[in-house]
Amino acid sequence: MRVLFIGDVFGNPGLAVAKSYLAEVRDDYDFIIVNGENVAGGFGITRKHFTQFLDAGADVVTLGNHTWDAHDAYGLLEETPRLIRPLNYPPGAPGLGYTTLAARSGERVTVVQAMGRIFLPALDCPFRAMDDLLETLPTGTGAETPIIVDFHAEATSEKKAMGEFLAGRVAAVIGTHTHVQTADEIIKRGTAYLTDVGMTGVQDSAIGMRFDEVLYRFTTGLPRRYKPADAPGTVCAVALTLSGTKGAQIERIQWQAPA
Ligand SMILES: [Fe+2]
Repeated sequence: MRVLFIGDVFGNPGLAVAKSYLAEVRDDYDFIIVNGENVAGGFGITRKHFTQFLDAGADVVTLGNHTWDAHDAYGLLEETPRLIRPLNYPPGAPGLGYTTLAARSGERVTVVQAMGRIFLPALDCPFRAMDDLLETLPTGTGAETPIIVDFHAEATSEKKAMGEFLAGRVAAVIGTHTHVQTADEIIKRGTAYLTDVGMTGVQDSAIGMRFDEVLYRFTTGLPRRYKPADAPGTVCAVALTLSGTKGAQIERIQWQAPA
């Protein structure tokens, strides 16, 4: 099975380039995952954005620390299994932290999101949350599905640790949130791993925001509202080839629309 995982789509430039890319490649994949937590100008996702992702070919949209920034997410998370938020929010949070859906190949795929705790809100332990989840999913019954984990975390050490923790237990652990694609992809014990898939948006920016506002804050220490960068975007993604419940290949992608 071929799976495409598109990294954090940031603002209108990210959405535009993601849609252009998906129009070209969607038929090459059996299942498409998009991290969409920054699509609403950097802060969350609205119903309109979510619909555009599905119309473009996404099967599942994942979120992260900006899950609750746009109010539409509360209702959407309760309505659809195609939008998920981090698994390790405390019990009672709206929505799901994982979802199992049919791919175009007919096989089923489970997508999970967990969030790290270093320089991010102090949620429940993502490692224990993954252990607990994996205990509830079918094993050895013939009903196993490949499991793809979006680990939304700031610290490389925490992401690397999660990759090792889940190696041999899931098909893929793909890092999101830090917005710069790393080059450390590996297949370990049948698990595809990459520390960060990168941001789909304006690469020459302060991870999606305009430099001038960010530099004002860094150089003065004074608050100022960030504004999204506005220029042609780049898709950052990974293509995964799965063999049964294992990750067999991982390939990094960076793509810009032809001029
Ligand atoms: Fe994030």
